Amino acid sequence: MARRKIIAGNWKMNMTPSQAVALCAELKDLVKSDSVDVVYCVPAIDIVPVAQAVKGTNVQVGAENLYIEDKGAYTGEISAPMLVDAGVKFVIIGHSERREYFKEDDAFLNKKVKKAFEAGLTPILCCGETLEQREMGVTMDWIRLQIKSDLVGITADQVKSMVIAYEPIWAIGTGKTATTEQAEEVCKGIRECIAEIYDQATADAVRIQYGGSVNAGNAAELFAQPDIDGGLVGGASLKADFGKIVNY
Ligand code: 13P
Repeated sequence: MARRKIIAGNWKMNMTPSQAVALCAELKDLVKSDSVDVVYCVPAIDIVPVAQAVKGTNVQVGAENLYIEDKGAYTGEISAPMLVDAGVKFVIIGHSERREYFKEDDAFLNKKVKKAFEAGLTPILCCGETLEQREMGVTMDWIRLQIKSDLVGITADQVKSMVIAYEPIWAIGTGKTATTEQAEEVCKGIRECIAEIYDQATADAVRIQYGGSVNAGNAAELFAQPDIDGGLVGGASLKADFGKIVNY
């Protein structure tokens, strides 16, 4: 069964609302594609203008975060129903920057994954090892622990519809991409982990992205790997190069 590739930009904390609209206009023709899914995961304040700007195009809108409650006294947070109402389809959960700077742990991230599904959002669940973990040889043990903990109570059908992003922390924003072999090895390992927890059909259906210094020059080789179903792109998603990545 062929999995459709999904190329998502993670804008992180970049682009004011007016810059966001300008970027959507700049990328509009460049990211046209019938063969891959294209998603812009944007800062909360950009969601409404970006949703407007990409209306009628092949681009879908994603959020970079959500909170685990639907409403109430949680100053500064954004709920899943708010995202859905604004036209969001995808939500990044467990990015290493949130794990590190905002101390989000796997038990909390598991609640976020559940909340996303409950609201009808598609999670893009991130995992990845530090350089130290890679050098110690515990990469796959660590990633299996992240995946297993984050997916507690999630059904096979839900997993089939979601996206997992493998992002080695040492490759994020460093210009140091994992080699194609390293990226494929871990993405394959994640798929095997899903087959163990669920079954082979679920493992065959879930889409697994690679992220970490993806650019116009390395995208084609990465995305050609049997277990890599696209990319989660940071820096290169903020410029015209993103069109080249989408049309690798
Ligand atoms: P870069 O592409 O800038 O390395 O960022 C990767 C990333 O963190 C995407 O979520």
